[in-house]
Amino acid sequence: MAEKTQQVLGVLASGRGTDLQSIIDAVHRGEVHAKIGVVLSDKPDAYALERAKKAGIPALCIDRKQYDGREPFEEALIAALEEKGVMLVVLAGFMRILTPLFVRHYKGRILNIHPALLPSFPGAHAHRDVLAYGVKVSGCTIHFVDEGTDSGPIIAQAAVPVLDDDTEDTLGARVLAEEHKLYPQVIEWYCEGRLHIEGRHVRIDR
Ligand code: GAR
Repeated sequence: MAEKTQQVLGVLASGRGTDLQSIIDAVHRGEVHAKIGVVLSDKPDAYALERAKKAGIPALCIDRKQYDGREPFEEALIAALEEKGVMLVVLAGFMRILTPLFVRHYKGRILNIHPALLPSFPGAHAHRDVLAYGVKVSGCTIHFVDEGTDSGPIIAQAAVPVLDDDTEDTLGARVLAEEHKLYPQVIEWYCEGRLHIEGRHVRIDR
């Protein structure tokens, strides 16, 4: 029987990289059958880059400030991903909106995690917006990336309660604990070929 091709992931992260760490750990435990080919950050001081290096994964900063415009920046991202043979792009706390140039290049092959229950509270300040609105439940959403912001077909969600005395930090930590379980699971489903985009819906072969 032919060997199944191993998926090569490219993880994009802008910050401390705990979502990245959950993926690294799941790969090491054998729960995600993929190789992380490269970790890219748009920020030179992103701790995610350190986490990658500690795990022996190629890590590169593609500093947004060095590029004159979004498209040249994204062309550099694509070149770095292509060089490592990346098939699936995983956004893990990557705090930039990708243009159609990038999204079309990796059509159906970009995952994002958002720290709220989409389509509620999209954007860069989900926890703040959740607390300001007064909803009683929040959570995280993993979706395919389309050309809109936080608008692509939803793959999976996990919910957590919002407590009366929550701050952005306490709510964020509760949501993050769910992110760290759900993201590796969804990546493994992708690698197993179990995710099928059907319009706005994602069917998961169980
Ligand atoms: C996570 O909560 C992730 O959902 C969020 O950034 C955090 C990254 O944490 N992503 C977004 O807000 C994307 N718009 P981390 O750096 O510890 O992985």
